[in-house]
This record gives sequence, C-alpha cells and structure tokens, in this order.
Amino acid sequence: MPRRLFITTALPYANGPFHIGHIMEYIQADIWVRFQRMQGHEVHFVGADDAHGAPIMIAAEKAGLTPDEFVARIGAGRKQYLDGFHISFDNWHSTHSDENTVLSQDIYRKLDRAGLIYTKPVEQFFDPVKGMFLADRYIKGECPKCGAKDQFGDACEVCGAVYSPMDLINPYSTLSGAKPELRTSEHYFFRLSDPKCVAFLNEWINQPGRLQPQVANKAREWLEGEGDKALGDWDISRDAPYFGIPIPDAPGKYFYVWLDAPVGYLASLKNYCTKRGIDFDKLLADPDTEQLHFIGKDIIYFHTLFWPAMLEFSGYKIPDNVFVHGFITVSGEKMSKSRGTGISPLRYLDIGMNPEWLRYYIAAKLNAHVEDVDFNPDDFVARVNSDLVGKYINIASRAASFITKHFAGELKYAGDTGPLMQGARASALLVRDNYESREYGKAIREIMASADRVNQEFDASQPWLLAKDPAKKDQLQDICSRVLHGFRLLTVLLAPVIPNTARRVAREFFGMDRDFVWSDAETLPSRVNAYQHLMTRVDPKQLDALFDMEPETPKVTAPATPAAAPAPAAESSATISIDDFAKVDLRVARIVKAEHVDGADKLLKLTLDIGSGTRTVFAGIKSAYDPAMLEGRLTVMVANLAPRKMKFGLSEGMVLAASGDAPGLYLLSPDSGALPGMRIK
Ligand code: 2FM
Ligand code: ZN
Repeated sequence: MPRRLFITTALPYANGPFHIGHIMEYIQADIWVRFQRMQGHEVHFVGADDAHGAPIMIAAEKAGLTPDEFVARIGAGRKQYLDGFHISFDNWHSTHSDENTVLSQDIYRKLDRAGLIYTKPVEQFFDPVKGMFLADRYIKGECPKCGAKDQFGDACEVCGAVYSPMDLINPYSTLSGAKPELRTSEHYFFRLSDPKCVAFLNEWINQPGRLQPQVANKAREWLEGEGDKALGDWDISRDAPYFGIPIPDAPGKYFYVWLDAPVGYLASLKNYCTKRGIDFDKLLADPDTEQLHFIGKDIIYFHTLFWPAMLEFSGYKIPDNVFVHGFITVSGEKMSKSRGTGISPLRYLDIGMNPEWLRYYIAAKLNAHVEDVDFNPDDFVARVNSDLVGKYINIASRAASFITKHFAGELKYAGDTGPLMQGARASALLVRDNYESREYGKAIREIMASADRVNQEFDASQPWLLAKDPAKKDQLQDICSRVLHGFRLLTVLLAPVIPNTARRVAREFFGMDRDFVWSDAETLPSRVNAYQHLMTRVDPKQLDALFDMEPETPKVTAPATPAAAPAPAAESSATISIDDFAKVDLRVARIVKAEHVDGADKLLKLTLDIGSGTRTVFAGIKSAYDPAMLEGRLTVMVANLAPRKMKFGLSEGMVLAASGDAPGLYLLSPDSGALPGMRIK
C-alpha cells in the first residue's frame, strides 16, 4: 500500500545563513524522503524560513533594513545550500506569508472557541527609549548576590546565583542602555494545563511508535511535573512593536514567534499545494496522510506539547511522529547554535568538496537515537576513501573494463542465478528496514559488508588470469556480470544517500531512462556502457582548506588528562594521579585588556596579568563575550601550556571556560579576594 507522507524539517530562523547543523538535519530527512520515494510512496517534503520574532526585528534594524527586506534577503540565500547538498525539498516557503497568517489566525480562533485562550496582565520590563517590552535576554545589570556587573537577567556568570531579571541591581536595556521600567500589559495565554489538553497529550505521547523512548520520557516528565515544575499555560502574545502575525481582535498584540513557527509547516504545504493544484484541505484532512517532523533535541518541548495540542484543539491533523536527532560536533567540540561549528557548508562546496561525501559520512554515523554526531576529519577521509570509493565505486571500474573490452558491454550469467538473487533480496530487506527506522549507520554497515563480499568474490576468481585464457571467457563474463549486478544492487541501496552518483549509474552506466527505484534491487542487469569516472577520493588537503578559516581555537574547556600519565590499569585510564594534576600550572589571571582580532570570527585577544607579568592569550570566546565586559575581570589560566604560534600572533596559554549541551560558554572566575598570580591547586 503506497503511503502518503507529509514531511518537514525544523524551520530555521531567518537571521543568518545555514550552518552545518541545519545541513545535517536536512541530510537526515532527505535520505529518509528519497528512500520513501524509491518505495513508490507519495511524499510531500517541505521547509520554510522561521521569519518572525524580536531577534530578527533587531537584526534587521542593525542591518539598516526593514524586517521584510531582511528575511527576504536571507531566504534568497537558501537555494545554493539546498541544491548544493542535494536536499530535495518539494517546497521552501516562509512563516512571513499570507498562508501562515490565515492558518495561524484560524488555529487561534478555534482554540479560543474551544475555551483554551484567556488573558491576564503580565508585568515586564519596558525600554522607554525603544518603546518596547524587553525579553529577558535584552536586560543586564548587577548580580543581586555578588554585585558583579553586566550580568544577564537569569543567572550570574561570576557567582552562579540564579534569579529573575526583576532582581537585577541597576538593570539596563542592552538595546538602548536605558533603565527599563516595569510596566503591565495584557497577555494572551494558551491553557495547556487544561485537563483536556493534559489528557490528550498523555495519549498522544504514549502512543506506541510515536516518539523515540528518550523523547517520550522527556515529554512525560514535563507533562507530569509537579509544584514549580508543573505544566504551565503558555504566553502566546507579544506587544507591538513586534515582527509577527497580529492576533485577531486584539489591537497591538502579535503571536509569539513560537506559535506561528510550526504553523509554517502547514503554510509551506499549502503554498506548495496551490502551486501544484493539490487540494490542501483534503490532503491534510485525509486520515491516511502521515505527518512527520524531523527536529533537533533542543526543540522537543515545542513539538511534543504545544504543537500537537494546538492542532488537536483546533481540529487539524495531529503529528504522527516527531523524529529527534542530536547535535553535530566537530572533533568533539560543541557548536554554537547561532555561529555553527568550524565547518562552513558554503566553504565546503566552494573548495570543491563533493556533497555526497558528507551525506555518506553523516549517514554512516546516524542512528535512530537522540545522539550527537561527531565530524572527525581523519575518520571522514578514511570512510570516504576506503569504504565509499575503495569498496563501492571501484567495483564498477574494475569489472566494467573486462565487459567493455571482451564482451562489448553484454552481461551473461552462467548457471543458477537463484542464490545471487536471494542474497540481493535479503540485503535489500535488511537495508530497507534500517532506512525505515532511521538506523542509517546500520544500513551503511550492511551495504559495506555486501561490497566486501562482492570484492572478495571477484578477487577470488582472479579475473585477470581468466582474461588471458580464451577457454575461460564464459567464466570471465559470468563473474564480471555477477559483480556488476552486485554494483547495481549496492547503488540502489545507496541511492538515498548518494542520489547524484546513483542517477549517473542508472542512466550513464546501465543505460536506463529513469532513476533507480527500490525494486531494481531484485532484477539482473543485462548490459553496461563503458565506465566513466564516478567519484574521486578526498584529498586530506581539502580538509585543511575546509578548516583554514583561522587558526585552531585554543581549547577553553578544562584540560584533558595529560598524555604523559602512565595508566596503571586499563579500566582506570579515565583517572589521573595528583602528580599528574600538579603538572598543570593553573593561575588566577586578571584580564587587563580584551580586544577583537581582525579577521577572526571566534577569537578575542586577551592580555592577562598573572602577577609576575603579562601574557597574551587568543581565546575562542568571542561568541559569548563582549570584550568590554571582560576587562578587569579575574579568571583562571593554564600558565604552563607550550606557547602556540597562531595566524594572529603567539598564544601563551589558555583560559578556562565551561560549556554544556545547550549553547553558551562560561568563563571561570575565582571567588572574590583572589589575586593575579595565585596558584590553583
Ligand atoms: O529553533 C529554531 O531554530 C526554530 N526556528 C525552529 C522552529 S521549528 C518550527 F516550529 F517551525
Ligand atoms: Zn553574582
């Protein structure tokens, strides 16, 4: 039975270009989409820009553009990435669109009619210069506990105290510098805590197969929270000026961006239906249409609580699945949500790296769990060169040369091909199940195991000797035909991952007039054309070029176990002795100067006073700190790290900072009273 699938990826904020994290999500979804299309299913795969909200409004103002111009400019830049990495969206739209306005307002009205909307006054900081209410992230002030200056409204980076923005001493707006005033305004709320919402969500979350176990657990935790963890109602309004969708019959009120963002999934589908002459309402209302969302682990809350509840109580289709993936790290380093990692997707393409290498590498490392995927340059080179090119591509070039030279392209199988077909069917079934359950790593392992078997069979038959003996011509044709059947099978199985190569293999090599479909795994090819070069190996120099944006950022996390530490026993290799620790000379340092570095987008140049003199350190903390905020602050440095020559100068140590799963980087500070140069032990 053909399925009908409506598939989305998370809508990226229209405040900057795609980073590698977006591309990873699109690759994951695109592989699944292409796999489903190859099964003959009807797929509608759509995306859009998430265009609304205060940060975009402010970014537009900084760029000297209207928000409309700003998001249009970002939107225009999307195609080169999507085409570049072979992401086959059927449509790309924007939440700043007529469709989204109509749909968001319709959903809101229906929720209101269902008794799930109410208003209540909310007291919030207001910037009298900007004339707008301020989200907490735009307010700073002095920590109410330790008095540290320039602290955000949620927690102190110096003493760790947690508080609300109202508690800050001498608060100021980071937008205008003005002292914010507390003002009250009427806000609109979605009654998520309503027993009918809770009952529905309980059922939705616990439906078998709906969510990954880890995701369902998380959602249950939120749903069942008690006391101050109890599920609250959701503030869905923001006051003008706000770049968003007006709330019907509520002058000066707009939907909070997270209300209209997921509605953008439907808006993009509607826009696509209009372009294709499809009846949107019918498609969406059809109980056979499956609605699936691929998202990252940071936005589970919105997609497993608000979104299904909004849809349910406004009478729309509810999501069938939400598929959650982890983040991408580069050589183990977390990336920042806004800046991405050291890998720039456009640079990857610009320096001529093959997008299918990355698709293959990511596929080989992805599974169905919410686990991070690490991009490791050496591993990347090894997997692409030894597996993809060495094991798979090479089969075609080796076997085809005999077939072209001795048999004018004709394939002929001697004897029983039953076992060959059985093997192919078994492999295709296994790989199919693994793609379906998003266990891409397992699928790739099975494909490479098949490639190994094909290569072994070929080598064992010693075709180069068969070619020399006219009496063994039939044998040569048979083995080459079997091997090329194997190559075709492998290409069908890899087609969702390397669609461009698969298309060329189908059309140029096997002379087909269409692309592969899944059932091609079960048929025998009868001829091939002369082999044309299909894929080059990665040159490790390309990876140097990929990362050569600026010198490697000094590590700002705690130092790793010193390599010199003799491990007394294998199982205790994660511990070090006190002597090992004593090798690290940690000192209190005062940041006397902090400066931007021309041409470096991650680094700040710090001049550190460590009592006995000053040191220069280039630290990768630009994403988290304004240099002006750092001057005068105490921190902790590794004082005996070998100096490192970097593009911008000599770095004489490193400063320590903490980071976790969420974005954010937190420089360490000693308690008050510590003096520059003091040893930390
Ligand atoms: O976290 C983000 O990047 C959001 N722009 C994702 C929105 S997904 C959907 F709800 F639109
Ligand atoms: Zn503090």
